[in-house]
Amino acid sequence: MAFDPVQILSERFAAAIARAFPAAASGGAADALLKPTQNPKFGDFQCNAAMPLAKAVGKNPREVAQAIIDAAASDSDLAAVIEPLSTASIAGPGFINIALRADALAALLAKFDTPALGIEPPAPPQTIVVDLCGVNLAKQMHVGHLRAVVIGDALARTFERIGHKVIRQNHVGDWGLPIAMVTARLLDMQRAGKDIAALDLDAIEKLYKAAQRESDADERGLAAATKYGLGPKALAELEEQVGGANESLAKAKSTLVALQNHDPETFAVWQRIADVTMRECLAVCARLGANVTSEHSAGESSYAEELAPMVDELVRRGIAEESEGALVIRNEGIEEPTIIRKSPKGGGGFLYATTDLAAIRRRVQRLGADRVIYCVDARQGLHFRQVFASAMRAGFATRPGASTPSRLEHAAFGMVLGPDNRPFKTRTGENVRLSDLLDEAEERAAAAVRDKNPDLAGDEARAVASAIAMAAIKYVDLSNDRAKDYVFSFDRMLAFEGNTGPYLLYALVRIRSIFRKAAERGGASPLDSARAAAIIIGGKEEKDLALALLRFPGAVRSVAESLEPHRLCQYLFDLAQTFSVFVTNCHVLNAESDVLRNSRLRLCDVTQRVMADGLSMLGIRALDRM
Ligand code: ARG
Repeated sequence: MAFDPVQILSERFAAAIARAFPAAASGGAADALLKPTQNPKFGDFQCNAAMPLAKAVGKNPREVAQAIIDAAASDSDLAAVIEPLSTASIAGPGFINIALRADALAALLAKFDTPALGIEPPAPPQTIVVDLCGVNLAKQMHVGHLRAVVIGDALARTFERIGHKVIRQNHVGDWGLPIAMVTARLLDMQRAGKDIAALDLDAIEKLYKAAQRESDADERGLAAATKYGLGPKALAELEEQVGGANESLAKAKSTLVALQNHDPETFAVWQRIADVTMRECLAVCARLGANVTSEHSAGESSYAEELAPMVDELVRRGIAEESEGALVIRNEGIEEPTIIRKSPKGGGGFLYATTDLAAIRRRVQRLGADRVIYCVDARQGLHFRQVFASAMRAGFATRPGASTPSRLEHAAFGMVLGPDNRPFKTRTGENVRLSDLLDEAEERAAAAVRDKNPDLAGDEARAVASAIAMAAIKYVDLSNDRAKDYVFSFDRMLAFEGNTGPYLLYALVRIRSIFRKAAERGGASPLDSARAAAIIIGGKEEKDLALALLRFPGAVRSVAESLEPHRLCQYLFDLAQTFSVFVTNCHVLNAESDVLRNSRLRLCDVTQRVMADGLSMLGIRALDRM
């Protein structure tokens, strides 16, 4: 059922318009053009549809408004939620003023007040694969991975909360030449008698970089790759293509062959690199409170065996064709063909896109995905357009027996920028390590906690600071428009005022403390009395709070549709502000009567549950005190 009065009014008025003006409405669905009123004196909402409709039907807009009102009069669902409409409801050139009935609002809120909080289980639930994290072996997680983890985790949690089956896939970059290069290095060291077991990820990353430097002979190719803003993966592939015949490259190639053939010595070194990388990266994910664990890892290496037969099949079926020695798939409307195998001159290897094609096939046809959602940097947009189109053509995106393909979606995100508005880098031009960023956020949050709440004991202070830091970092990442770049600023994200993580945590702590205070006064459990209370929508603050609460299911739905968690952030921020106005202007514990006190406590309780539910969808851990 619909809980949000705005939605109910929009639907009922649209239906009334369609009844009154069937011809005008039949072209497209009628739009009620519902807006909140500027002045509460005139009610809560106004329907502005009469003016454009009057033009379309060649009538006076006030007459049109009257016709809509007449048509609406027969709607008992509408009558249940609004004060009766009359000619006096028509204002100015033809606005229809609408006032909600306080008792109807209270009734809607009472129905909404269940554990589901208005989020109805989908029928049928879908299987949704969320591609998130996407780290690469032999590299620390840097700030660029923040969004792939945080946004991916938030979308996964939102779908889980709605009731879908979610399968997280961490498409780890653990295969191919760049990895073979560093494997070759470590292998050399081991053969020279060095103890490679002592190497941590920092040390391995240094070796990786050294290996890369050695093989990127061709500055031109690199410059081109940088100019076109290709991602690290494509960059590595290009470097390797133009690097030509240099020696370390030749060695890397033979190492890759040894890996492909599961040569035990080579494979053990690779495994070591994988273990060290994943241990450190998954620890960062855990610190962030993101549900990304080893069971979600499905690296590129897991597709290695499938690529050759898949490519053969694509050739056989006439989907892939030869182009200058390479194998490509051409797709209409996409400027560049998808290369799925390099030319013999280029080494004949498979590419990033080849693996992603195999991944779509596995995710849709084996895992049964109805939707596959990629939380990946916007700079990989062309790659995903190519791969999605190729997969569609090959039929890989259609489940066995299904008549329509599954949805493949790139939830592309913008970059994290430094204070200079350029990609966030350290002073020396290195990528900023994600774990360093988390350390600094925790230090700063700890200072703020000491400052604001010196009484908090050491352990609790540390836990609170860490929760605030993670909330702050995750919330900025989520609350910024997904597709856009944003500028990273510790000061802004850690502020206790404004649209920040700490502000929302604090808003919830404040409600929880109302219940603690109520309990200290003794008597019946305040939560029990609240939950049993009749809801009274007396003043404007209560009405606004009720309306804000009832928008919750719609906000969650919009995240699931748009894949934009910032919509939920904005919703929670609005709710927190609306609550703040309510609690500032309406006495809760000192209300004029017990009936009013319990009704207001119930509003507090519903608010705290919506806030906690919303935060948990964002992957943000709530606090009891701070
Ligand atoms: N490892 C890749 C990179 O660093 C990201 C992987 C994203 N997922 C995917 N299925 N391609 O660019």
